[in-house]
Amino acid sequence: MSIILLAIESSCDDTSAALLKDGVLLSNIMASQEVHKKYGGVVPELASRAHQQNILPVVEGALKEAGYNITQVDVIAYTRGPGLLGSLIVGSSFAKGLSLALNKPLVDVNHLQGHLLSPFIVEPNQQKRVPQFPYLSLLVSGGHTQIVLVNSPLEYEVLGKTIDDAAGEAFDKCAKLLNLGYPGGPVVDKYAKEGNPLKYKFAKPVVGELDFSFSGLKTSLLYFLRDQTKENQNFISENIYDICASFQYTVVDILVDKLARAAKKTGVKEITLSGGVSANSLLRKKVEERGAKLNWNTYLPDFKFTTDNAAMIGIAGYYRYLAGYSATHDLSPASRAKEFSL
Ligand code: KG4
Ligand code: ZN
Repeated sequence: MSIILLAIESSCDDTSAALLKDGVLLSNIMASQEVHKKYGGVVPELASRAHQQNILPVVEGALKEAGYNITQVDVIAYTRGPGLLGSLIVGSSFAKGLSLALNKPLVDVNHLQGHLLSPFIVEPNQQKRVPQFPYLSLLVSGGHTQIVLVNSPLEYEVLGKTIDDAAGEAFDKCAKLLNLGYPGGPVVDKYAKEGNPLKYKFAKPVVGELDFSFSGLKTSLLYFLRDQTKENQNFISENIYDICASFQYTVVDILVDKLARAAKKTGVKEITLSGGVSANSLLRKKVEERGAKLNWNTYLPDFKFTTDNAAMIGIAGYYRYLAGYSATHDLSPASRAKEFSL
């Protein structure tokens, strides 16, 4: 008998629901929240309100697109955390309500586990190369930057992580300083294509061997822009492409360098990327190039599964369900990664 799993993701500013049949993705519906754009970042209170408006149509949309009705769902997976508490409460309460009403089991998922297992999202009749265990994942998103050794679907080791800002946050802060709006990554990526990546040099941080730090880079951009605009008021508008290209080049160089160190240290050559920043065109290119030199098997994520989505929560939930995990209805959402055993 097959297992129909409904997955719900609401950890930040995207409301998403997906339906999977025996671990194969049938639908993945997203509602992105436009409301935050004018504030230059996600406003938690507005995010939870928007999740409340979006969640029912998004779940209905996922069922409809897959051609199923709610009574055919066998198990419900949801993001327990980490993320914004008010946002997580909406998804987890909805999932719990469904589980009670349908009398179906509930599986809680760590959002980061979803990102790590996103290379295993497959659609019907899709032939896909998937990584062999153990593999290394460079998990780069707006909230997290980690290098993780994934030993099996349920066993992980974090080898290094950021001691301050995440890589996505660095892109977002850069875009904010340049007045490019939110989220910053996609627009910095786009402008960087037109610029010279070697025009400006930004200082690289000195941290632990596999750790990251991006707050100094942001500060060095801030001082650089302040000094340059003192001399030329139009400095930013006249050099926007080169600034974006040079900043992006520095971030990507740091990420790829640490990934290569982790691969060397562990001897693991199965390499994946995940999280919103893995959509970055230069990062993808540089990982492919370095991988070709070092004989890695690289698995770049499909663009549509790089940013937050319920499909990845579905695949992680599916593995957890098969391994016998289930959540009780009194399990509360957890906003911080350290609250998880993972
Ligand atoms: O994984 P995600 O959707 O949400 C979190 O869990 O944080 O990642 C969002 C982050 C944002 O910081 C956004 O600026 C960044 O991913 N991002 C990018 C690109 N597309 C999205 N960063 C660099 N280049 C991109 N093309
Ligand atoms: Zn995420």
